[in-house]
Amino acid sequence: MEGADKMYLTKEEEKTLAGEHGEVLERMLRLLVRLGDIYEADKMVPVGSVQVAGVSYKSIEDPGMEFLEDLAKKGARVKVVTFLNPAGMDMDDWKAMGIPKAFAEKQTRIMDAFGKMGIVTSATCTPYLAGNLPRYREHIAWSESSAIAFSNSVIGARTNREGGPSALAAALCGVTPHYGLHLDVNRKPDFLIDVKAELKSSADYGALGYHVGKIVRNKNPYFVGLPESDTDKLKALGAAMAASGAVAMYHVKDQTPEAHLWETAGLEKVEIGQKELEETYAKLNTGKVADIVILGCPHASLREITELAEKLKGRKVKKQLWICTSRMTKDCAARMGLVHTIEKAGGKVVADTCMVVSPIEDMGYQTTGVNSGKAANYLPGFCKQSVMFKSVDDLVKEVTE
Ligand code: F3S
Repeated sequence: MEGADKMYLTKEEEKTLAGEHGEVLERMLRLLVRLGDIYEADKMVPVGSVQVAGVSYKSIEDPGMEFLEDLAKKGARVKVVTFLNPAGMDMDDWKAMGIPKAFAEKQTRIMDAFGKMGIVTSATCTPYLAGNLPRYREHIAWSESSAIAFSNSVIGARTNREGGPSALAAALCGVTPHYGLHLDVNRKPDFLIDVKAELKSSADYGALGYHVGKIVRNKNPYFVGLPESDTDKLKALGAAMAASGAVAMYHVKDQTPEAHLWETAGLEKVEIGQKELEETYAKLNTGKVADIVILGCPHASLREITELAEKLKGRKVKKQLWICTSRMTKDCAARMGLVHTIEKAGGKVVADTCMVVSPIEDMGYQTTGVNSGKAANYLPGFCKQSVMFKSVDDLVKEVTE
């Protein structure tokens, strides 16, 4: 029997590797053991929850769909609460979005396969706002980069940047290899980012994050000089850093829970002023007139939907305007009358999906307006879009009469 090269395994894990719990679990645990051996993990740790990426048909296509259907058919069942990353469409309102029928059929098959495995078929990159909130220091295995940055940094939970397969394996086995950000030593800051720029909107936090991600890559920045920032602004900051770099962990002095644990003396210091922010806006703005404005990257919170509804009151949207969110948040926003207000103005609240993983390039859009540094980073490559990157206020002006 081929077991772990270096890692300690429990008796139960050894039995799983020997195939005593079936072929699927054997394969999945073997994948985790290989990963652990590569990164010199000492053991597996139980995870409190999992978030699986690779959900949109646009990303995984037929081979991914068939792989998931095969797993479901073989009786694979998750052992812990498992959420999904955004899918390629609103699972209820895909027709209103203009999604092609053939795409919708495949996306539905993917969601059905996940559902059969016991996964929560709500697809969101902000599971922490929608019913899956980890605890401080809890080990988890999440795979959407903005959710990883948020859970490590703002919540203080512990996850590596899992790929779709390793997250699914963690969900089915209930464990993940103990290495990387699961260890205290890898959560220490590497750079001191001194922010001198004035930050007003979430877009400013996205521009800052985009710029810092390019500098620090996959290292851990420690911010000083940030104004008091709500969770919406921190999710925008982390998402952009995770996209332009591969930041999975950051600290903000006096605002994130592990910042006080670390000394900053001796760290390489980078100062960010107004000039750097303006240069980032100039770089990310590649389009002039947006055909569609899409907000909610990462998925909008109830506060962001409330603010948008307030801004749209009494206005008429003359182009497409979507705000992307989780199903749970949309349901709550509907109950509060916010969805009605936004729809009355001509906008849409879109659940389960986003501008990057839905096939907007096949729906005739060429220039997309966003307030997200992450979306501005990905839209040109993933969706062949020119980008208008501005604050929500400016984008609302752009699309309303
Ligand atoms: Fe979420 Fe899509 Fe942005 S997955 S973080 S809304 S690119």
